[in-house]
Amino acid sequence: MNQPADVRPLETLQPLELLFETPGLADFGLPLELAELYGGSLGFLEPRLYANFVASVDGVVAIPTETESSQMIAAGSKRDRFVMGLLRACADAVLIGAGTLHASPRGQWTAEHAYPPAAPLYAELRRLRNRPARPTLAVVSGSGRIDPHHPGLAERALVLTSEQGAARLGDRLPRSATIVPIGSESPIDPVATIEALRAGGHTLILCEGGPTLFGELTAAGLVDELFLTLSPLLAGRSATDRRLSLVEGTEFLPGSGVDCKLLTLRRAGSHTS
Ligand SMILES: NC(=O)c1ccc[n+]([C@@H]2O[C@H](COP(=O)([O-])OP(=O)(O)OC[C@H]3O[C@@H](n4cnc5c(N)ncnc54)[C@H](OP(=O)(O)O)[C@@H]3O)[C@@H](O)[C@H]2O)c1
Repeated sequence: MNQPADVRPLETLQPLELLFETPGLADFGLPLELAELYGGSLGFLEPRLYANFVASVDGVVAIPTETESSQMIAAGSKRDRFVMGLLRACADAVLIGAGTLHASPRGQWTAEHAYPPAAPLYAELRRLRNRPARPTLAVVSGSGRIDPHHPGLAERALVLTSEQGAARLGDRLPRSATIVPIGSESPIDPVATIEALRAGGHTLILCEGGPTLFGELTAAGLVDELFLTLSPLLAGRSATDRRLSLVEGTEFLPGSGVDCKLLTLRRAGSHTS
């Protein structure tokens, strides 16, 4: 009998193949089945801010004319979804910009939503690490122009905004969401934004984009690690099409580029991450 893809049993998932790893990385001691599927262990020093993206071979991470274009860019890779879930399962907060919230009108930034078949394993990891069942969703919106009915806000969420944005939101958010005003006007200071999250006990913060927010956090020196899945696709671009690359709105070169060091490399078919 055919089953919908997202409820296929976990046994059908092939483990990722570990191609390279720097010795001595932090290790949470993942439950055995998670470690087998991930192709080794995973962990973070704390506090840490880590980001996760999927990009095409030609560097496209978003096609703004398409909803949920990152799923298109990931080319249906179940193993990319599995890693997305694993990274969420490690996080105290998942941090996104308002653009990413708008682009996924049905989105929920939980581990089980990324890859439902591994939900019990993600839950076990969170239990072992004495973490609540789900990470907090933290949305950055200086303007406060977000949909208060977005399903992502229906469970423990923070909206990091300016005083102007807070005034615009008023009391329109559900009770599950808390407004955190940072500064009087937009844009708000990325350093103060992360400090506010850390002050709330969120020591492991996973940034899931988009490229505008990621660029700002990187420019402020706040990003410790980037998990980048390279999907075996060319997305292309025309002169008029505003497809987004990994960093938008911030320039690093010419001048001082951001040095990156390879920590691990895994392969899932022709996807690498
Ligand atoms: N391929 C992937 O892995 C991946 C991952 C994530 C997202 N995406 C895609 O990326 C696209 C969205 O990216 P994006 O770069 O346009 O948007 P974004 O970074 O998600 O959000 C930008 C918005 O966040 C708010 N913001 C960011 N920094 C701020 C600051 N310092 N102060 C105040 N507000 C701030 C602003 O909201 P206000 O305008 O409300 O003030 C801004 O317009 C979507 O299509 C999404 O699907 C792809």
